[in-house]
Amino acid sequence: MEKFHISGGKPLAGTVHIGGAKNAAVAIMPAVLLADEPCTIYNIPYIDDVIILADILEEVGAKVSLNSGGCAVIDGSSVTCNKAPYDMAKRMRASYYLLGVLLGKFSEAEIPLPGGCEIGARPIDQHIKGFEALGAKVDIEHGVVKARADRLVGNEIYLDVVSVGATINIMLAAVRAEGSTTIVNAAKEPHVVDVANFLNTMGARVKGAGTDTIRIKGVDRMNGCEYTIIPDQIEAGTFMIAAAATGGDVVVADVIPKHLESTTAKLLEMGMEVIEGDDYIRVRGIRKPRKVNIKTLPYPGFPTDLQQPISVLCSIAKGTSIITESLFDHRFRHVEELRRMGANIKVEDRVAIVEGVDALTGALVSATDLRAGAALIIAGLTAQGVTEVENIHYIDRGYEKIEKKLSAIGADIRRLKDGENLLKVISSNIAVR
Ligand code: EPZ
Repeated sequence: MEKFHISGGKPLAGTVHIGGAKNAAVAIMPAVLLADEPCTIYNIPYIDDVIILADILEEVGAKVSLNSGGCAVIDGSSVTCNKAPYDMAKRMRASYYLLGVLLGKFSEAEIPLPGGCEIGARPIDQHIKGFEALGAKVDIEHGVVKARADRLVGNEIYLDVVSVGATINIMLAAVRAEGSTTIVNAAKEPHVVDVANFLNTMGARVKGAGTDTIRIKGVDRMNGCEYTIIPDQIEAGTFMIAAAATGGDVVVADVIPKHLESTTAKLLEMGMEVIEGDDYIRVRGIRKPRKVNIKTLPYPGFPTDLQQPISVLCSIAKGTSIITESLFDHRFRHVEELRRMGANIKVEDRVAIVEGVDALTGALVSATDLRAGAALIIAGLTAQGVTEVENIHYIDRGYEKIEKKLSAIGADIRRLKDGENLLKVISSNIAVR
């Protein structure tokens, strides 16, 4: 099992270039199947979730060429299959976007029910509510969601909870429904807007994405196109927090600063220096962070995906910070691991009370999910001594070459292959010289 070996205490310094948004890519790639011609997508992050999704699209009959340079050419014109293999959802949660796509394309779809995951229950009742409002009959049998409609007809859909996945999935079906659809109480995340922009580039008629009311006029056909995915706001925020936590000075480049407003606001509140450019944000950890209170909320609130990373900054702040996780019921599993490093955090239900300590100390820790893994890397970068992070397959799902990007700005981090230990790595390095 691979792990990251980190020697902490070195301030990060330099420029890091941010890749394409994972949570846009995993929706845009299946959305290509709605078109009758191939699409070329640029700025796709070369991460495990994307690689697995490319396999899944091929399994349903699409032609996919994906390279590590961030470009994918996907042709869904020959897809005839409206079912996906059962093991799919286990391999990649967001495969549920194929429900909306195949319903939109064929008026029927059979997709395995995505299980819960490491951060808590992940129901899809709002997705199903939307599909039923469009005229589909939806049953769940033997762990498979079966949706079928004689024809999809536009409707007004009110989401009981603000859901990124439901908003996107309903859009994916509604763009091919007859007539107009309105999604009320829609999610406003940047990746929701990116998916809507991509659909419109293929000839759909989606208006209002980025507000809480999205209006869609169904179209009969959609065409191939070229599209570039927006930068990943969560990858960017992760590096901003790492810069602050290590007392560093990092330019986080190729971003859209507007998408990071809540993260910038919190870092400023904690006493960091944050300078915004047109397409970069410079973060300087000019002092020991001050305590802060954080409540995760749908965009433009503080993103739940940065709750675990920023809890590391809180754990070395002056004073006591309160972190409230409003979206997921099990997103504090990283706390146990941070305690091994000397963090002083109490968790009561969805609230973490973080007493700042002078410094964390290195330890052997395990990632429990994607963003917990990112948090443990940040903890290792700031801790005194050596940290080893296990279960880094979670991290590879959502961060492209994270150890290379960190090493390029001064981090002492190495990926140790299964069974490899650092002494062997060092001795082999010496031998090579
Ligand atoms: C997306 O998950 C992201 N994943 C998550 O990022 C992110 O944490 C989340 O949005 C919130 O921003 C992808 O985009 C692939 P939701 P999603 O539906 O769509 C409840 C990461 O680390 N809900 O917005 O599953 C749900 O339980 C991942 O990149 C229902 O009750 O999130 C939660 O409490 C982790 N019924 C809230 O809504 C539903 O039908 C928000 O979930 C759907 C959701």
